[in-house]
Amino acid sequence: MGEIQITPSILNSDFARLGEEVARIPGADWVHVDVMDNHFVPNLTFGPAMVEALARVSPVPLDAHLMIEDADRNAPAYVEAGCGSVTFHVEAAKAPVRLAREIRSAGARASMALKPATPVEPYEDLLAELDMLLIMTVEPGFGGQRFLDLCLPKIRRARALMDKHGVETWLQVDGGVSLETIERCAEAGADVFVAGSAVYSADDPDAMVAALRARAEE
Ligand code: DX5
Ligand code: ZN
Repeated sequence: MGEIQITPSILNSDFARLGEEVARIPGADWVHVDVMDNHFVPNLTFGPAMVEALARVSPVPLDAHLMIEDADRNAPAYVEAGCGSVTFHVEAAKAPVRLAREIRSAGARASMALKPATPVEPYEDLLAELDMLLIMTVEPGFGGQRFLDLCLPKIRRARALMDKHGVETWLQVDGGVSLETIERCAEAGADVFVAGSAVYSADDPDAMVAALRARAEE
């Protein structure tokens, strides 16, 4: 397992002041940027031009989570936009191995996401191609949803597969992660934690990042 990393999602921050919002979390490891196209998920956020502008001002690297159709064609633009990590959904990719290799060779970390109903076992042999696996702990589309405990066994199985193959792939969880739920995820084997509403509804978002980290490290 890698070091614990905390990745606030700006989805529930103030979109009119994104530059200031990312400046409030200097203690984070990454900033999680949720890109939604209103097709893969029933919500719409931003595209490569806005992500590029944010990458220029963010104190920490961007972790793009692409909830968009046709990932094969659309993902490379987010590497070009300056993201340090780019996550595509396997449900939206026609050739995930080719895409992961393309993201890596363009200079970013390549990551693949699984929705709650998508099993991890069929992708066991792909883990070595990935820098990170994202296991969604809500149905993607919106911040502020309740954590799905039914995803915990999959986190455990993913960690076991990573151990079996001896890969250094990070295991990220996203959705409903809070002071209340982060321990369960860490205990199951996650090492990278996205937290949206938990961080941006706090009076001091950077203090919440530190509190989440401490709770995951316990
Ligand atoms: C949901 C997004 C998440 C979201 C998390 O589809 O992928 O990154 O911002 O928000 P919380 O932490 O509030 O569930
Ligand atoms: Zn996300």
